[in-house]
Amino acid sequence: MRTSLIVGNWKMFTTPAEAADLATDISRRLDGFLGIAVALAVPYTSLAVVGPILRGTGIDLGAQDLHWEDRGPYTGAISHGMLEALGCRYVLVGHSERREHFGETDHQVSLKVLAALRGGLLPILCVGEKEGDRNAGRTRAVLRRQVSRALEGIPAGSGRHLTVAYEPVWAVGTGRAASPGDASDAHQAIRRQLERLFGHEISRSVRVLYGGSVTPDNVQGFSGESEVDGVLVGGASLRGPDFVRIVRGGWERRPIVG
Ligand code: PGA
Repeated sequence: MRTSLIVGNWKMFTTPAEAADLATDISRRLDGFLGIAVALAVPYTSLAVVGPILRGTGIDLGAQDLHWEDRGPYTGAISHGMLEALGCRYVLVGHSERREHFGETDHQVSLKVLAALRGGLLPILCVGEKEGDRNAGRTRAVLRRQVSRALEGIPAGSGRHLTVAYEPVWAVGTGRAASPGDASDAHQAIRRQLERLFGHEISRSVRVLYGGSVTPDNVQGFSGESEVDGVLVGGASLRGPDFVRIVRGGWERRPIVG
């Protein structure tokens, strides 16, 4: 069975004080709302203040990236152990903004997935095609390649600790979300690749989220698709009322799958 998961990605927004206010607002608005998983991937500098605010609320703490080594002379980098010590449960890996602005490669992404698993964190692997790939009909090929390269070397048994987020690059931060039907097709392609890597049973246990311009107004289209196990939300997660409307966007009424 796959429980829906809604993740807010605050990117490089919020000071610790702002993050505390936003986390408090979201947790108050969601008070008593159970049944699906919710996480906030906040800036590193706010993990230590948001963690205690979320404790006991049912909302999990997440980070937006990690280094692939356990420790070492990597100035500016953060290890899985540091994240775990601050109470993180999830970590985003391979977000398209990391790939684009920081030159992150498929190989580095795969090392980061391994590091997250080694540290007991739940990696959320982000994949997605660029607009040119999509126009050229290469979406599925890109997704197959990104998924298989990111997960090479991962023991099949670890597959069940994994979440994949399908985030078409052209939809991230543009206000132009994929259609629910297109997202569902992409999710099926991702799950087929997971099946090739991990076998049927484990592939059915991996959550596949959609991300890219999700709003309270379009969320019901995604929660209506049985292949979409939740959403990864950027811009709208910085507004408490909007994020909460997305969390309440019909996920709890979904049939049990998997
Ligand atoms: P967006 O970002 O919701 O602002 O498009 C999604 C993401 O980057 O995860």
